[in-house]
Amino acid sequence: MRVRSLGLHTDLVLHAWRGRVRDREDHLVVTHPDVPEFRGGNLLVFERPPEAADFERWCELFDRSVGVPPAIGFRAFGWDGLDGEVGDTAAFIAAGFELERTVVLAAPRLLPPERPNRDVRLAAVTDDAGWEAAVDVQASESARPGYRSLVAGVMRANRRVAEAGHGVWWGAFVGDVMVATMGVFRVGDLARTQAIVTRAGWRGRGIASTLLHHAAESARAAWGTGLLVLEAEADVPALNLYQRVGLALIEWRAGLGQRAWTPRRL
Ligand SMILES: CC(C)(COP(=O)(O)OP(=O)(O)OC[C@H]1O[C@@H](n2cnc3c(N)ncnc32)[C@H](O)[C@@H]1OP(=O)(O)O)[C@@H](O)C(=O)NCCC(=O)NCCS
Repeated sequence: MRVRSLGLHTDLVLHAWRGRVRDREDHLVVTHPDVPEFRGGNLLVFERPPEAADFERWCELFDRSVGVPPAIGFRAFGWDGLDGEVGDTAAFIAAGFELERTVVLAAPRLLPPERPNRDVRLAAVTDDAGWEAAVDVQASESARPGYRSLVAGVMRANRRVAEAGHGVWWGAFVGDVMVATMGVFRVGDLARTQAIVTRAGWRGRGIASTLLHHAAESARAAWGTGLLVLEAEADVPALNLYQRVGLALIEWRAGLGQRAWTPRRL
């Protein structure tokens, strides 16, 4: 399947490194067998948004090629596109799926933040303690049961990919304490960010913008990549920060995800 979206393309390359991507002509099967609870990493990706008649087929394909409970807890579907087209989702919504909208931003170079934070030390994560701290910072975002183990599973995969030479995972430190973290990976002549988080209590001090700018410039210097690509949920406040450092909206995307498993025939 040929993919037009830069957000989707860079996502798929990361998925293939961390897990598995199988091409089935009009759709792709993305799986992370080691992290079955990774909703964004166990999904089918189609060439176009759903039509009314697709519900049965898409669910049946998912169950056959990705899995069913207890192996997989929920179905998820994505599709290629640049304008956020959603198609006909009525049957999916009726079955408990939620529409998930994201935006893709990109820039050849980032602007330095207006108020950089000069107190934090920025360093690549290289050892067990650093990777553990990066999991802690991300996991502090949610008290939901199972969230830490989900983050830890995805980060084990990110560590493998970074250590294979495809990217760098960064931390921002105050003393020895990691207060913010993010990843950046090289995808051909593009750089793609992952998971930008500042620990609550340290926000609004320019830490994420300083870290993002540094990670982006380091990627450009090390790899000669031409464009930095970032994907975010469409309604997060972080979009302000991203646009302030010069990232521009280039694509709107949509997908469907189930919160809990429901039978195909209602
Ligand atoms: C989004 C997130 C990473 C931002 O981290 P942060 O360290 O607070 O980011 P910054 O301090 O660089 O910027 C945040 C805001 O503080 C402002 N700011 C920066 N330095 C400041 C300073 N010295 N004094 C006051 N405000 C400041 C920035 O201008 C920005 O304002 P804006 O949103 O109006 O543009 C953080 O809120 C977070 O982890 N959120 C939860 C996870 C998340 O949503 N991640 C993004 C996923 S796409």
